[in-house]
Amino acid sequence: MPRISRACTSGKKNREIIKFVSSLAILHAAQLVTLAGAKKPRVGAEMSELAIICDGGMRVSDGKIDSVGSSDEIKKNAADAEIIDAGGQVILPGFVDAHTHPVFAGDRLDDFERRARGESYEQIAAAGGGIWSTVEKTRSASDIDLFEQAKKYASWFLKCGTTTVEAKSGYGLTVDDELKILRVIRRLNEETPLEFVPTFLGAHAIPHEDRQSPQRYVDLVINEMLPRVAKEKLAEFCDVFCEQGYFDIERSREILTAAKKLGLKLRIHADQLSNSGGAKLAGELKATTADHLEKTEERGIAAMKAGGVQPVLLPGSVYALGSTCYPRAREMIEAGLAVVISTDFNPGSSPSPSLPMMLSLACTQMRMSPAEAIVASTINAAYSLGRGDKIGSLEIGKLANFSIFDCEDYRELAYWFGFSQADSVYVQGKRVYGGGLRPSAKN
Ligand code: NIG
Ligand code: FE
Repeated sequence: MPRISRACTSGKKNREIIKFVSSLAILHAAQLVTLAGAKKPRVGAEMSELAIICDGGMRVSDGKIDSVGSSDEIKKNAADAEIIDAGGQVILPGFVDAHTHPVFAGDRLDDFERRARGESYEQIAAAGGGIWSTVEKTRSASDIDLFEQAKKYASWFLKCGTTTVEAKSGYGLTVDDELKILRVIRRLNEETPLEFVPTFLGAHAIPHEDRQSPQRYVDLVINEMLPRVAKEKLAEFCDVFCEQGYFDIERSREILTAAKKLGLKLRIHADQLSNSGGAKLAGELKATTADHLEKTEERGIAAMKAGGVQPVLLPGSVYALGSTCYPRAREMIEAGLAVVISTDFNPGSSPSPSLPMMLSLACTQMRMSPAEAIVASTINAAYSLGRGDKIGSLEIGKLANFSIFDCEDYRELAYWFGFSQADSVYVQGKRVYGGGLRPSAKN
């Protein structure tokens, strides 16, 4: 007889903690949102196809999905498996957050309060707040303190149903401090249940000591930081904050071209504060992604299409900066781009780890449908991180990374907002959140 880990007759949850179980059978999901489909990023009408199985189930063995179907079918092969009854609940692949800055010291509460009084992001940065203030604190912090702080944020991601996180450096801006941050990201990957995908963002801001000679810093990034990062395999991607006052088009091109030669793939912070040509540069360099794009217009959209670039839209930073200039998601979808939605989790412009919150913003502010927003934060995000063959959908052979939500219709994930509906979260078939588990350590 299969062991039943949950009795749910009264609607009250009382699941046992699962220990050392190699096979699981998850049954009776009101909606098992599989996102099964073509093995490529989804575009156009494909972004509305979720491949939902009602009263769905799946079997998991050794951390991978080995069958997906109706509960009746799955039950036939579940004799040796631990049973999870997900009756009345929605199951989704773990969210994939393709743009975050999770390793930093301190916070930006003062900036937050100044913005509430009417000062802009640019004014606050010019007055000594902004990225630079976080750089100063991060330089002074030890790797241990940075790790402990980021470990707390890792638990926040998990509680929201996220199981994979792209993570950027960028608050060090010296060789040693950038490497320190990337090593913290590597340790987060090893010691938390989340998978962290590292990105080198040494070109996040010109450090104050180089204000008068920005090219000196660009040379440092190219000649010293990038070779170390590549040699020690500390990052898969290189990113640049391409913006007036940070790295202009010429300097961004120089850094990204050097990174590409060293084998790193490219992401670009593009057209966030001004339409400065970042999306066009991404197209020219065939970057994997161009991110933000609040100010991108038709020509930038066409350039991304021509270069096979995925747009990563970050509505949390628009919201938290008090702006109303959201990126043109509908035009991008209509142009056939494989849109991604991410949090941009960082202390300054987007202090939220919640992809469900981003789904709400995508639907209410960017006219995306709930289905499009889910595709954008799972399978399309997975492809943008080079992991579309392993995660982002619930299909045979993929990692058993999934979340069970306390709702019956997937649209509720974008509809209710401001709290997490996640009941439990699984990484490679192991429960890492929910049922009394604290999401802190790899288990
Ligand atoms: O993606 N735009 C640049 N970088 C971050 C903000 C970082 C910060 O303000 O600390 C962003 O919004
Ligand atoms: Fe960012």
